[in-house]
Amino acid sequence: MTAPALHGPPTATRALAAGAGRRFGWELLHDGQRNKGTAFTAEERAALGIEGLLPSGVSSVAQEVRRAYEAITRKSDSLEQYIGLAALQDRNEDLFYRVLIDHIEELLPVIYTPTVGRACQEFSHIFRQPRGVWITPEHEGRIDAILANVPHADVRLIVVTDNERILGLGDQGAGGMLIPVGKLALYTAAAGIPPTRTLAVSLDFGTDNPALLDDDLYLGWRHLRLRGERYEALVDEFVGAVKRRFPRALVQWEDFKTENALGLQERYRKVVPSFNDDTQGTGAVALAGLLTASRVTGTALQDHRVLIVGAGAAGIGVARQLREAMRAAGLEGEALFRAIALMDVDGLLVDTDVGLDASRQSFAWPPALVEKCGLALPGQRGRLEAVVRALKPTVLVGASGQAGLFRETAIRTMARAVDRPVILPLSNPTSHCEARPSDLLSWTQGRALVATGSPFPPLTYGGRKIRVGQINNVFIFPGVGLGVLVSEAREVTDAMFSAAAECLARETTDDDLLGGCLFPPVRRLRDMAARIAEAVVREARDSGVGRAIPDERIPAAVRAEMWSPGDPLPSLDETAGSGRPTAAGESA
Ligand code: NAI
Repeated sequence: MTAPALHGPPTATRALAAGAGRRFGWELLHDGQRNKGTAFTAEERAALGIEGLLPSGVSSVAQEVRRAYEAITRKSDSLEQYIGLAALQDRNEDLFYRVLIDHIEELLPVIYTPTVGRACQEFSHIFRQPRGVWITPEHEGRIDAILANVPHADVRLIVVTDNERILGLGDQGAGGMLIPVGKLALYTAAAGIPPTRTLAVSLDFGTDNPALLDDDLYLGWRHLRLRGERYEALVDEFVGAVKRRFPRALVQWEDFKTENALGLQERYRKVVPSFNDDTQGTGAVALAGLLTASRVTGTALQDHRVLIVGAGAAGIGVARQLREAMRAAGLEGEALFRAIALMDVDGLLVDTDVGLDASRQSFAWPPALVEKCGLALPGQRGRLEAVVRALKPTVLVGASGQAGLFRETAIRTMARAVDRPVILPLSNPTSHCEARPSDLLSWTQGRALVATGSPFPPLTYGGRKIRVGQINNVFIFPGVGLGVLVSEAREVTDAMFSAAAECLARETTDDDLLGGCLFPPVRRLRDMAARIAEAVVREARDSGVGRAIPDERIPAAVRAEMWSPGDPLPSLDETAGSGRPTAAGESA
């Protein structure tokens, strides 16, 4: 079976893609997916009715990139840089991706964590151009018709949030939309998913954030959050509409609060190809970090003792992925169970705790085991330092969203029992990170192996220059998404995330490790996404959920689907239904 390409023939010229006979004159210059700005040649300007509408100088693409990059970086405030990049994306999408790909290391913190967090918080005050689709309870019964309004017919990748748990910043209402927008930009930059194949969705079912509800400029649906059966019915209607309108689409659930994140992931796993990045993507990136750290410490995976602080979507995702990997490495029974411990606000999870849901329950320790470890006294299991002293973890993961939670006493205690403590404060944005890498190194006399969710600049310790790795699911989701699309997998499996994690760990070189870094540099994102996609395609084939592509053809199949700036954009001239709803049951 030959899959229809995600994007058109690479030989077609950029001018044809830009013109396509549909847009002329002033309108063309204001169509971000066709506009080439000052790179339109004199011939194109004459043919397309834009002669005189641009200054006479014609720029090469390289000059355009230089000009756009200079315009962004002359702004000193990162939020202003974010706004400038968003405006560039609206004005000339091709140029936006050229700038982003060429400067990914520098611009990732702007379009993604930490700056995107500020942009979400300020959304109603910085709003200029819409991007994506906002679905509110007022659209009940009409969600299919709303999806018919999206500008492109053949959407293959949807990132959807209900805005309730944006990074570590909590409920951001309609502003949470900027997370799917940012993630999709990364899907395009890193994995070459054509922007015309992507859709950002905000399920704007209200907000419980009083500051937003009181802000007269707030742009979201100004009501308290919808919950319960009506919430579920609306999500159901949304998924049904996606299946009908975009039958080839992969859905990524993004930044839902824990219960919804875990619930939706399970509920729709077999209904529509889908995954939750906060649990599955984070679990995979943490496993990759542990695998690379193990190369330095010489500790086998199954010999680690892991303490995860924060039993939300991310913490549970990490715990699940690590338990599966340890099981696969041969650990079983009580030893497997004891290898991972989770703490939340009330301390170490214990299975007699009231109100534990099934996911937390499966990691909660029996009181007898807690007692055996020396945590019997009241209050002990609630103190990180006491838990660290009792459990002697080799790995400490932060997924709490609480800045400074990893205090000096706890870290020094950890470092007394372990030669090379692995410390992974995952929380974003930077202001919510559990500890600063410089502190972690100083409290452990430079012995800690550290990676953080948000980027930190390189640092020097004991004359050694150390590049702090970014332990972020941006290393995982672009490749997984691309692999799923290439293999046309009908389901996204946990094994795909294990394959992605192992691939990412292999991509970390000995040189990276010598520089103190557990992850490859961000500038290699595109290359890594392709490699991870290959691993996912192989896994999908082997487990029978994806196309049977022979090994030797997988790299070419993946590369063929990766759009690059300058390639024609697929389905640019097809609309999703020109605003007309399909008849019930009719396939779009
Ligand atoms: P969440 O809100 O679902 O979970 C946070 C959990 O931490 C909650 O269960 C909360 O009760 C607990 N917690 C809060 N204060 C605590 C304390 N003092 N001690 C112990 N536990 C405490 O949020 P989610 O989705 O799990 O994300 C958590 C953090 O991880 C966020 O900052 C998020 O940005 C970050 N994250 C990072 C990723 C990465 O790739 N680096 C990916 C996904 C999330």
